Formats: sequence, structure tokens, C-alpha cells
Amino acid sequence: MTPWEVHGVIDYSKLIERFGTQPIQAPLLERVRRLAGEVHPMLARGVFYSHRDFNWILDEYEKGNKFVLYTGRGPSSGIHLGHMLPWLLTKWMQDRFRAKLYFQITDDEKFLFKDFESLEEAQKIAYDNILDIIAMGFDPKLTRIFLDTEYIRHMYPVAIRVAKHITFSTTRAVFGFEHSNNIGEIFYTSMQAVPCFLESIEQGKNVPCIIPCGIDQDPHFRIARDVAPLLGYYKPALLHSKLLPSLQGFGAKMSSSQPETVIFAADSEKEARRKIGEALTGGRTSVEEQRRLGGNPDICVVYANYQYIFEPDEDHLKAVYDTCRSGARLCGECKVELADKVVAFLKRHQANRERAREHVEEFMLRD
Ligand code: TRP
Repeated sequence: MTPWEVHGVIDYSKLIERFGTQPIQAPLLERVRRLAGEVHPMLARGVFYSHRDFNWILDEYEKGNKFVLYTGRGPSSGIHLGHMLPWLLTKWMQDRFRAKLYFQITDDEKFLFKDFESLEEAQKIAYDNILDIIAMGFDPKLTRIFLDTEYIRHMYPVAIRVAKHITFSTTRAVFGFEHSNNIGEIFYTSMQAVPCFLESIEQGKNVPCIIPCGIDQDPHFRIARDVAPLLGYYKPALLHSKLLPSLQGFGAKMSSSQPETVIFAADSEKEARRKIGEALTGGRTSVEEQRRLGGNPDICVVYANYQYIFEPDEDHLKAVYDTCRSGARLCGECKVELADKVVAFLKRHQANRERAREHVEEFMLRD
């Protein structure tokens, strides 16, 4: 796994070991409950399962030292539920802790890493994606969205200070770069480090920063954390999520270029229902067998969707699990129940997205 490519089934506990992060455990969740008034289901269920320095962030918060949130997204022609997963927790964190959010749009990254042939196209898609971001309900007073190529005058002096402390050996060892990589790709991680420090620069004093992101983004921030003290800043803290599995199964690649693997934010009701209907489950080969032996929710991506996003109610989630195991619940009806929830979510999102069109400038940071 790299920030740009994921193959096969991911062993999440191994990543904690290999990356040297901390698992999110019960005492930390109790602290969150005390300070936030509740624990978001994604935290409680281990969808966000790993962290760096979250305890320190809460120490500072208790001392009255507020933190800022930072997350980001590379422009994508198909924003899907997997992309939105960290945004849901970020929104909850913003609401619960009244935290300011920096949202970086890496049009430079997706141009350099060849997701887009032309930079103009990456920028255009960036603005389309911003509608999906705003539609999540972030508070315009507390949210700053920016494109790397537009906010560059502000960011560049910070990026080169970061870059000066990163050798080619380091970036090659962390990301596996080769001689054929272009030099923009090699430099890019310094751009992703910049927003960690933007609020400290703005306030002229160090401000703690925490980054909700997919665990695949951690390599960037390992580097940013090494460099931060060299520039006199706090190390950014992190909250790592698992990646939403593909509808075609846990090992299958989830990809915007393979529409049957993901539900897009823009999918119609019909498309969403069809994809969920065709999703891989932990079901048996016949109804008779399923009634007799039960299904296996632990390997089922339909169940994963209930668990990751769509069933906030703990008791009902358990009922889904138990009735699947016992054979009382069949895959067909379970898929319809999930599809109803997904469709309701998409309809709400799509309406919010239309309303967002008039509010873009309230969120944008510009030089
Ligand atoms: N590299 C991320 C992507 O491919 C975008 C990104 C930039 C990001 N900064 C971030 C993601 C901070 C999470 C947190 O989409």
C-alpha cells in the first residue's frame, strides 16, 4: 500500500506495527465521550482505529488550547463513499469541538501523479468536488478550502522550508520512488505538509493540529512530523481510518474507474440499488443453505457498509449481525434495507450539493 495505490486485502493491525502508530482503545474513547459528549460510531467501532498523539491533542484541549483540523482530497472525477468516510468524522469533530478546518485540494498532486493530463482539468474537477465537500455540512465560519495551485503564494515559502529538510533518500524509502518518477512527485509531500502549520502561522504561535485521514496517507505525515520540530512547529496529530471496502469484496480494488466497485456521490437511485444488489456478500450459495448454516457478516461488504457508515444504531447493527449469523436474514432483504439507507443519504447529499453552488466563495482561501 502507498498513498497512490492499494492492492489486495489490507492487514490493518500490521499497519499499526509497521507504521508505528497507536491503536485507538477504550480509555481514549472514554476521554472523547467525556469531552465531546458522545463517541462517533466510526470511533467506537474501530473504523477510525489508529492515531498519533490524539491524547496530546485532548490534553491541550482540556487546558483550553484549541486544535485545528486538517484534511484533504485530490480532485477526483468520481467522489464516492470511500472518499466521504473521513469527511463524516471530520464534520463531527468540527461540530463537537468547534474546531477550525483546513481542507486542502491537491490539484498539483493529481496532475503530477497523472490522474489528469491537463492541469486545467484537475482544477475544474476540484471545484466540482468542493460542492461535495461543502454538502457535508461544514461550518463556513470555521472552514477554509484551498487549491494548492491557487493558494501557492501563501504556501510556497512553507513548502520549501519543509522540502529543505527532506532528502531524496528519505522520500524514496518512504514512498518507493524510482528514477522514472518526475521531480514534482518527489517534491509533492512537502505541499501536503504545509497545512499542518497554517494555523500556527496565522496566529503567530503554535496551534495543535489533528488530521483525520485514511491510513494510506500516514507516510506523508510521518515525514511532516519529523520536519515539524525542525521548523519550530508542533508535530501534527493523526486519526487513521480503515478504507471502505469495494462492493466487489474486501480484496478487490475500489476504483473510480470501475463503477461497480463503489457508490458515487452522484449515483442515481437506480444505479445505487443495482450496485448494492450485485455486491459480494458473506452469503451461502442457496437460500436453503443460508437458512440452515447462516451467513458470514465478517466477510460481507454489505455488512461493512452498515458498520462503517449507514447504521448508527448499535442495537440494530447487532441485530443485523445476529440475524445474518442465524440464517434468519437473507442477503436479498439485507441489501434492500441497506440500499434504502444509501439512497436516502444520496438524495440528501445531492440536494445539499445543489445548494452549495451559491456558497463556494464563503469557504475559499485565496492569496
Ligand atoms: N493526498 C490526498 C489524496 O490523494 C489528499 C490530501 C492532502 C489529504 N492533504 C490531506 C488527505 C490530508 C487526508 C489528509 O486525496
